[in-house]
Amino acid sequence: MIVLGIETSCDETGAAIYHAERGLLGHRLHSQIKIHAEYGGVVPELASRDHIRKLIPLIRQACADAGIDTSKLTGIAYTSGPGLIGALLAGASVARSLAWSLKIPAVGVHHMEGHLLAPLLEPNPPVFPFLALLVSGGHTQLVHVEAIGRYEILGESVDDAAGEAFDKTAKMLELGYPGGPRIAELASQGDAHRFNFPRPMTDRPGLDFSFSGLKTHTIVTLQSTQRTAQDRADVAAGFQEAVVDTLLIKTRRALQQTGLQRLVVAGGVSANQLMREKLKIMTSKEGCQIYFPRLEFCGDNGAMIAYAGCQRLMAGQLEPMEISARPRWPLAELAPPG
Ligand code: KG4
Ligand code: ZN
Repeated sequence: MIVLGIETSCDETGAAIYHAERGLLGHRLHSQIKIHAEYGGVVPELASRDHIRKLIPLIRQACADAGIDTSKLTGIAYTSGPGLIGALLAGASVARSLAWSLKIPAVGVHHMEGHLLAPLLEPNPPVFPFLALLVSGGHTQLVHVEAIGRYEILGESVDDAAGEAFDKTAKMLELGYPGGPRIAELASQGDAHRFNFPRPMTDRPGLDFSFSGLKTHTIVTLQSTQRTAQDRADVAAGFQEAVVDTLLIKTRRALQQTGLQRLVVAGGVSANQLMREKLKIMTSKEGCQIYFPRLEFCGDNGAMIAYAGCQRLMAGQLEPMEISARPRWPLAELAPPG
C-alpha cells in the first residue's frame, strides 16, 4: 500500500508518502509562522487560504521526493479533525477529490491519533500496549493505548493545554508566536530555581492537569521584578520547569498505576529538550522504555497522518466518499479500524 498523508488542521501544511513495506518515502512541510506572527497567533481565515495555496504543490513535491507520481498511490489519508474548520476542509476537499479521481480509498484521520503514532515511524518502535503522553497546543492527555483505535483517556487538562500555556506565557513575556520554542530558548539563559513556581494538582490524587493558574503565577512573578533580561529569563526558566515537572509527576503516577512498561511522548511540546531529558531520566529510574518522534515529527506533519491512515486502510477501514471535517472530536470516540 502507498498512502499520501495530508495535514492541514492548523498552521502547517504537510504532505507525505508512506509505503507499507518500505516506510516513509517522502515528506514536505510548509509552516505558516511568518503569516501569523504579526498577529501574535493563528488567524483561521489566513490559515485556510494558505493551505489552499500550498497543498497541491506540496503533494507534488512529496511525490517527487518519493520518486512516484500520483497514479502509484493506493490510498489517501487526511486529517479530518480536531482543528480549525476551514483549514480541515481545505485538506479534506483535496484529499477526497484526488481519491475520487484516482479511484482509490481515502480515510479521515484523527489528528491526535497521528501524533500518538508518530513514534512508530522511528527505528525500534514501541509495541502495544503503552502509555502515551500527548502534549500539543490544544491537548494534554495521558492515554492508555491498547492498540490502534483503542484509547482510554486516563487524565487530561481541565483548562489550558501545555502548549497553550507556553504560548500564552510567551505572549505575556512579549516573546511572540509560537511561544513554546521561544520560552525554551529564553529559559536556557535563566535560573529555574530563583522563583518558586507551583506544580499544579500534583498534591492530590488523579491524573488530570491544570495549567491556567501557572500563567497567572508567571505574570505576578514577573510584575514583582524590574523586568530586566535576566528577570525574564529566570521567570521563563521557572515556568518551563514547573510545566515539565508537573507533566513528569503525573506521567510517573500513570506508569505506576497502570504497570505499563513503555511510554510514548508526542505532540508539539515533545520537542522540548528539558522535558525530553527529564522524562528519559524518570523512565529509566522506573525501568520503562521511552519513545519520542524525531524532532521534525513532534509538531504537525503529513508523515504521521500517512502512517496512521495506512494502518487503518490496511485493516480494511472503509468510509463513504464524503468530505468530513470535525473541529471537535474526542480521541476516546475512536474505534479500532475495520
Ligand atoms: O502538535 P502541535 O504542532 O500542534 C497542535 O496539534 O496543537 O503543537 C504546537 C504546540 C505549540 O503550543 C507550541 O508552542 C508547542 O507545541 N511547542 C513547544 C516547543 N515546540 C513547540 N513547547 C515547548 N517547548 C518546545 N520546544
Ligand atoms: Zn498537532
